[in-house]
Amino acid sequence: MNEMTTISREQRPYSEAAKKALSRKPALFINNEWVASSHDATIPVEDPSCGKEVSRIVDASDKDVDRAVAAARAAFDDGRWSNLPPMVRDRTMHRLADLLEAHADEFAELEAIDNGKPKGMAGAVDIPGAISQIRFMAGWASKVGGETTAPYTMPAGTVFSYTVKEPVGVCAQIVPWNFPLLMACLKIAPALAAGCTIVLKPAEQTSLTALRLADLVAEAGFPAGVLNIITGNGHTAGDRMVKHPDVDKVAFTGSTEIGKLINKNATDTMKRVTLELGGKSPVVVMPDVDVAATAPGVAGAIFFNAGQVCVAGSRLYAHRSVFDKVVEGMAETAPFWAPRASLDPEAHMGAIISKEQHDKVMGYIEAGKRDGASVAMGGDAPSGNGYFVNPTILVDVNPQMSVVREEIFGPVVVAQRFDDLDEVAKSANDTAFGLGAGIWTKDVATMHKLAAKIKSGTVWGNCHAMIDTALPFGGYKESGIGREQGKAGIDAYLETKTVIIQL
Ligand code: NAI
Ligand code: MG
Repeated sequence: MNEMTTISREQRPYSEAAKKALSRKPALFINNEWVASSHDATIPVEDPSCGKEVSRIVDASDKDVDRAVAAARAAFDDGRWSNLPPMVRDRTMHRLADLLEAHADEFAELEAIDNGKPKGMAGAVDIPGAISQIRFMAGWASKVGGETTAPYTMPAGTVFSYTVKEPVGVCAQIVPWNFPLLMACLKIAPALAAGCTIVLKPAEQTSLTALRLADLVAEAGFPAGVLNIITGNGHTAGDRMVKHPDVDKVAFTGSTEIGKLINKNATDTMKRVTLELGGKSPVVVMPDVDVAATAPGVAGAIFFNAGQVCVAGSRLYAHRSVFDKVVEGMAETAPFWAPRASLDPEAHMGAIISKEQHDKVMGYIEAGKRDGASVAMGGDAPSGNGYFVNPTILVDVNPQMSVVREEIFGPVVVAQRFDDLDEVAKSANDTAFGLGAGIWTKDVATMHKLAAKIKSGTVWGNCHAMIDTALPFGGYKESGIGREQGKAGIDAYLETKTVIIQL
């Protein structure tokens, strides 16, 4: 019997703090207050490690959305946030980060219960990542500004012309379930720094940390209406946010399918839109690598967060001379990545977010097998409760198979061989997506040559999925529009006004 079948996947007891958060009455956070929905509809909150309902959240109505947007609109229009000294916005944001830090353990546990990811991973990645988004962007509050630029066609001294940066206005921010708090903070931080006001909607599967964040928003001292947090379904509440005439900008992270729909729906009112969408990121392993060091790295590129990562390294291209050794080395990581309940301290991989997503991932694995793929690792799901999928490597695949072309969003990698650089560059780009790519080589020239050829928003060398709040992140092609993080991230929340005064 192998180790994966002997692991106990029983979920561990919840802490008192988590129980308190789960027993919260379903409500919406509008104008710094908890308010009841206009109707009784709620959405169950499930722990994916056991498949049990553990709480309920509001399924916001159109009226609820309108109320949140009205609060954000009023807070923007009277300047209660944008007119504050930048130092005060900066300090308020740092206070929010301080409060998150003080409650980091509770947030990590809530994320683990809600999403199914290991608490250890949430504590090491999600929560500190969320905090650094806020701290980095807080500094921009005092560092954005326009320019004084002399006109090209007018004599000097006849006009005075300059540009001003202004906050774009009311922002509807819609985030997915794979990194709930991190995605929420990645969205709110630049908007707050720019002086915008916000209606944030977390994913219906994972709203617990956003709701807990709301408590801290009031405590940190943000004026009422600046950051409103509502819960609800995408096709109703999310859709209402996107189409609302009083919303100036939509920022979305999620599926490419919904991203395209949102882009269309936002057009009628010409909202500013940033979209961070799906991927099918290639990972290229050159023949010169140290296989023993590389194999665990490329395994982590796909198995981290159970592959539910927009930049997951889901297409592996290993040079023919090292292919077998790389796949063997990845398969040796199976015990490390064996799925466990999210509160198990030994967990590195948890559960898949939902039964729906679990079945989708298993459906892809079955489709791959039907199409002729062979399983080099995993390929099945452990028995018992909870939405677990064993880490899976598929070989003997070809570029036409759905497992090679489509985003699976699970711990499934397709591994292919290649012979030369031009060939692998072509294969890497043979996709509608362009979010991330990984290159593993010790040869600096090869690294740069390949990095130049690959069409994606981020290229990693000898690592994968490293994101940093100072560095722009976003997609080429169908992986999105615009960039988040870094200076590009703050610019996405600013309008440029040009002032020309005849003297
Ligand atoms: P989704 O794109 O439907 O949901 C993401 C967010 O958008 C959620 O907050 C949802 O409530 C909202 N939403 C859904 N429909 C909307 C609409 N019509 N208008 C406004 N907001 C809307 O993703 P879903 O259904 O959770 O997952 C489906 C697939 O999408 C996954 O299997 C995965 O392949 C992919 N996905 C990709 C993500 C990424 O980061 N690239 C994140 C989550 C899912
Ligand atoms: Mg959906």
